[in-house]
Amino acid sequence: MTTSVAAPIDPPTAPNVLVVDDEKNIRRTLDLVLSGEGFHVRCAESAEEALRIVDAGTEPVDLVLLDLKLPGMDGHACLEKLRADESTRNLPVVVMSGHASVNDAVRAIKLGASDFIEKPLLRERVLVSVRNALDAARARRALAEVAQEQLDKYEMVGRAAPMLKVFREIERVAPTRASVLITGESGTGKELISRAIHRLGPRSKGPFVKVNCAAIPRELIESELFGHERGSFTGATQRKRGLFEQAHGGTLFLDEIGDMDLLAQAKVLRALQSGEILRVGSEHVFHVDVRILAATNKELSKEVERGAFREDLYFRLAVFPLRSPALRERREDISLLVDAFLTQFCKENGLRKKAIEADAMAALLSRSWPGNVRELRNAVERMAILSDDVITIADLPEDPHASPFDDDATTGTATAAADEEDFELDAGEKGAFPALLDGKRPTLREYRELAERHHILETLRALEWNVSRAAVVLGVERTNLHKKIRTYGIKRES
Ligand SMILES: Nc1ncnc2c1ncn2[C@@H]1O[C@H](COP(=O)(O)OP(=O)(O)OP(=O)(O)O)[C@@H](O)[C@H]1O
Ligand SMILES: [Mg+2]
Repeated sequence: MTTSVAAPIDPPTAPNVLVVDDEKNIRRTLDLVLSGEGFHVRCAESAEEALRIVDAGTEPVDLVLLDLKLPGMDGHACLEKLRADESTRNLPVVVMSGHASVNDAVRAIKLGASDFIEKPLLRERVLVSVRNALDAARARRALAEVAQEQLDKYEMVGRAAPMLKVFREIERVAPTRASVLITGESGTGKELISRAIHRLGPRSKGPFVKVNCAAIPRELIESELFGHERGSFTGATQRKRGLFEQAHGGTLFLDEIGDMDLLAQAKVLRALQSGEILRVGSEHVFHVDVRILAATNKELSKEVERGAFREDLYFRLAVFPLRSPALRERREDISLLVDAFLTQFCKENGLRKKAIEADAMAALLSRSWPGNVRELRNAVERMAILSDDVITIADLPEDPHASPFDDDATTGTATAAADEEDFELDAGEKGAFPALLDGKRPTLREYRELAERHHILETLRALEWNVSRAAVVLGVERTNLHKKIRTYGIKRES
């Protein structure tokens, strides 16, 4: 036995490991090895006993070392039970087996095992696996805490750099009176951003009034925004307060501002400049105190160039421009969002929170999501409705945007396409394999290697660069996978 170089564990915080194996010798050896490294060890002879110990909750269990082949309930069934229960869902489980087939390993990993180790057990392998699983669980908990704080504060989650930037900008601009122009593709969270700015600012007690500029007919927009006096035009049977007045003391959110017509733009500009509004059909001006937030999925500076948007209004609104990033620019957020949506959806519907299999998550991570977070959210809700306790790849809606040579395709129809005579690559399709294709058709061998590289990369990303788990999912030896990673020059992105 070699001695470990890791620092000794402080006894009061020593993690509790539950060893489950029907062989007495293995229990004893593991107890010795782990206790020697400072872990608290408890042993069970069967899955049933292990579940009783975990259920009783009298002693905390931080990790389970679980043999697959057990008399009575086997390891897979035990793992499934642990995953189905809310209180043990995230308990890290390292699975062991003496006569492991790749299938057993894949099944265990899909059920959420942290790692899979083969018998005969090697001391260092066991320790590395246990420590990695505990570290990963700790990191997951920390992430969940941060996500909860973000939800409480912004009603949004995100850990990708562009989202962290958005959160910083929200914090910076919320306390001010500055107008904010939020741009970004549809479904990226522009409305949530504007609500967060309002909520975190000094006007949070005042009203938040949203105007959808694209939805109001142009002949009604003036009266909607500024109100009207009774009888000021046909149909004006009542005196009406406009949205500017309703937002007095609070925030007016001009959504889809890029769709507002030029006449209305002129009136809005005047109101912003003077801080005064005039009801349609009235002589009196009213002073209003509103903060303006605006959003659009158009490139507003281009609209200005085109003459479709007033430059002076543009500058007035864009005192503080804020860009809401597309989901494909922040793929690290996908798993976080999926988790948040699942929690929320299951809670709203009185369901126990569903789990999602690793390869279903991998497929979600590899899609292009042109409809951004909204599209992802709809997909997750659909899956949650269709699935049993665990969401599998079979519950995934078909990817409406998948194309054979797409970077994001999850299905492999590409070889068929490559066989067609008049097949040509356009610029978009080349995107997936830019280095080799470069306008030329790949040989079958090149194609195979590119596809392999792509698939390995996506799997690694999906499993957060855990090579052992990726090897299990991909059905290859770890050493073999390492070799391929080197050959293909795959590097972990920061
Ligand atoms: N970071 C996020 N965290 C959690 N939910 C999000 C996040 N971003 C967006 N959503 C959800 O995605 C959906 C779309 O968000 P929102 O309506 O704010 O987008 P939008 O940019 O205003 O879209 P559109 O341009 O189509 O109006 C909403 O259901 C929202 O709750
Ligand atoms: Mg919106």
